[in-house]
Amino acid sequence: MYICICKGIRESDVQELGKAGVTCPKKLASALELDDKKNCCGRCIKNISKFVALAEEQSSCLQSSILG
Ligand code: FES
Repeated sequence: MYICICKGIRESDVQELGKAGVTCPKKLASALELDDKKNCCGRCIKNISKFVALAEEQSSCLQSSILG
């Protein structure tokens, strides 16, 4: 499912970043090029907390599967 029309970002893209440990807002925005004001409407950078939550969900899933 697409969560950003401007950049064509899918939910799975953010989840993959979360699995790779990218969960901080600045790093997520940079990795997804949301900090690039060209070709962005600005909606996603305003809602970066939703991206963080999605990434953290995957990060904690990975941690619990490693720790058992
Ligand atoms: S919909 Fe994501 S920046 Fe526009």
